[in-house]
Amino acid sequence: MSISRRQVLVGGGLGVLGGAALLVPTRSIDAKSISRLAPGDMPRPFQTALTQAPILQPDSTGIDPVDGAPVRYFTLTEMAATAAILPRLKTPILGYNGMFPGPTISLDQGTKAVLRVRNQLPAVHPFDGHPLTTSTHLHGSASLPQYDGYASDITSPGFRKDYRYPNAQPARTLWYHDHGVHYTALNVYSGLVGQYHLHDPLERALLPQGRYDVALSISDAIFAANGTLSYTDDSHSGLWGDVILVNGRPWPVMKVQKRIYRFRILNCCISRSLRPSLSTGDPVTFVGVDGGLLPLSQTVGSWRHSSAERYEILVDFRKYSTGQRIVLRNLSNPNNVDYDYTNRIMAFDVTDEPVDVSDPTWNTIPAQLATNNPVMALSPSEARKVRKFRVKRDDVTNMWNINGETWQDVISSGYKRVIADPGLGDVEIWEFENSSGGWFHPLHIHLIDFKILSRNGRPPFAYEKGPKDVVYIGEGETVRLLMKFGPHKGRYMLHCHNLPHEDHDMMVQFRVGPEDNFDPNDPITAAPATWDG
Ligand code: C2O
Ligand code: CU
Ligand code: CU
Repeated sequence: MSISRRQVLVGGGLGVLGGAALLVPTRSIDAKSISRLAPGDMPRPFQTALTQAPILQPDSTGIDPVDGAPVRYFTLTEMAATAAILPRLKTPILGYNGMFPGPTISLDQGTKAVLRVRNQLPAVHPFDGHPLTTSTHLHGSASLPQYDGYASDITSPGFRKDYRYPNAQPARTLWYHDHGVHYTALNVYSGLVGQYHLHDPLERALLPQGRYDVALSISDAIFAANGTLSYTDDSHSGLWGDVILVNGRPWPVMKVQKRIYRFRILNCCISRSLRPSLSTGDPVTFVGVDGGLLPLSQTVGSWRHSSAERYEILVDFRKYSTGQRIVLRNLSNPNNVDYDYTNRIMAFDVTDEPVDVSDPTWNTIPAQLATNNPVMALSPSEARKVRKFRVKRDDVTNMWNINGETWQDVISSGYKRVIADPGLGDVEIWEFENSSGGWFHPLHIHLIDFKILSRNGRPPFAYEKGPKDVVYIGEGETVRLLMKFGPHKGRYMLHCHNLPHEDHDMMVQFRVGPEDNFDPNDPITAAPATWDG
């Protein structure tokens, strides 16, 4: 790794272009901070209460004329707004309905959704002047290609697009976020993220619900002196902020009862990976991963958690005493940049608020969960093909790629070029090799859930033994994944979810089914955005 890659240019904040610049080393172990806030403006851990994003209410409900399924119609408006993140200063953001994170969408399996996304953003991003065209991806959903947030299927300011979500999959934690071509990192960093919860009867019977089912969206940020967000990605290697936010609040505190809670943890940092762990040393119980419930719950002391991975955990607060504070720490992983306070995420303060013991989830840790998930039932002997991919950086162009290919190659081909072409219903093994020692890559495959067969020839971590759609490929690691292609045909992306890597340009596509001269589900032309006034 060259010296220049270890340095970072710190410009002004969002909207403050070309201010005083400062070269500071990154990846040094003892960096204190990177934000340029005055001491009184810099947030400190555990000074603010955890909040939950509001649940988005549907505009209307209906019935699908084709199959009679219930449908809910929602609207989200992308817009510029300000957020109260810091103790004294306001921070300009881009948010769904002006919020960061955006409202949570909550639905039952079998209820379809039509999500109208209105782009009412300014014409260009205040930080770098890139056009604020967006594409909205529901990460975790097997959506048709034209509703999947295909990066180049963009909606311009003043336009809107109606996304259709089948919600036929088992219960899981999904999230929606911007996927606009080449600017996903800055758009997501600016606030275009939200959670989406899909429920089903099994999950409702086994796991805590309502106020005991808690969304935690963890991100990191760098602030300029005036409270605006600063962005720097160190030659596209990544952004590492010194302020950890949970649901948009710095290192918040949550009051908890002496019972079992369920946390849906989304790492929506654009680059940072986490290694969470409780300050008590007690383990937590893993019950869910990206694609839904685990077959068996797993007891885990700490875990690697890359951006875009979702893990659902149970934390048992029964044995702690009133007034006790339990910190959710971050033990970090190689190739993250750590600052003074990035070794903690949030805290839980135990209260003596009476527990409702008529709710059986208050003291139940299920051992068996989703024992019949079809992805976990797949066997390597069903695979028709093994495909190998190498994730790497081109040291001449400074561009990230997969087998030497980039999204630019897809664009240049008129969106036709694919890196793999499994048939509908085919089972395949995909092997990803990260031979570089200096980086980790959270690899995301759209459309399908996969089963992790191995990492460097050994079994995956206990907490990964469920249906996944993002896999942490650590330094020098090779992972083997097993998946079945469906339920849709068409072209879908796969990419690194370190978003500066994705934008520059570690994203390609695969096609399920044969090439079609007229594709009724063409990701760009099948459901174009319309003028919204
Ligand atoms: Cu979460 Cu292709 O993205
Ligand atoms: Cu996705
Ligand atoms: Cu990467």
